[in-house]
Amino acid sequence: MNGILRNFAVFEGCDGSGTSTQLSLLGQKYASSGRKPVFYPTFEPTDGAIGGLIRSALKNDTFFKAETLARLFAADRNEHLYAAGGVIERCRRGELVVCDRYVPSSLVYQGIECGDELPRSLNSAFPAPELLLFFDIDPKTALERLQNRSSLEIYEYLEFQKKVRERYHSLLGRYKDAGFGVEIIDASQNREKVAEDVWAAVSKMPIFE
Ligand code: TYD
Repeated sequence: MNGILRNFAVFEGCDGSGTSTQLSLLGQKYASSGRKPVFYPTFEPTDGAIGGLIRSALKNDTFFKAETLARLFAADRNEHLYAAGGVIERCRRGELVVCDRYVPSSLVYQGIECGDELPRSLNSAFPAPELLLFFDIDPKTALERLQNRSSLEIYEYLEFQKKVRERYHSLLGRYKDAGFGVEIIDASQNREKVAEDVWAAVSKMPIFE
């Protein structure tokens, strides 16, 4: 990735690792803490036009070649970052932007589907987050948490999720070696304890100094 974007944190993990729940808990904690910087929670795939296409493919309602989907994720990200009122603009004006999934999801998930080269080249120009929180959990436990959903998405099965976790761990090793901020959160704990660990990591970001 290309340079570090200040005030930008991302949540990553296997499906069912609880990133969306934790992002909303972080918002509640933030609101009650009286902290100063504006907090902007967001997510990928986005709820924009390209994100809609991606979600339809994730539900298996539309079929795209894996390489097409990799390009759609990158196009959705480009809009998310660079459109007016997007992530870059917000971070630069001093908001704290926390995004549920980002480039690492593409390197991991599309890496499994398409090989490393395509997602790497599609994502090489995007900035790196200042902090990456990885929600680590055994994929079997994570998938069990999804069992009450009415339908599962295309990546939500055990064999795939085992590869996802392995790939995340090797990616995180490379990120740490490159000097990026990485925190591994034990996502198998109860959600209040996970929320405390998330808060402990996020509140150390330079924006709070
Ligand atoms: P997820 O955050 O799990 O959404 P929801 O909780 O609404 O189902 O993300 C949807 C899926 O998209 C998830 O399986 C990971 C996948 N994904 C990629 O494969 N590549 C990407 O670049 C991104 C952002 C997500």
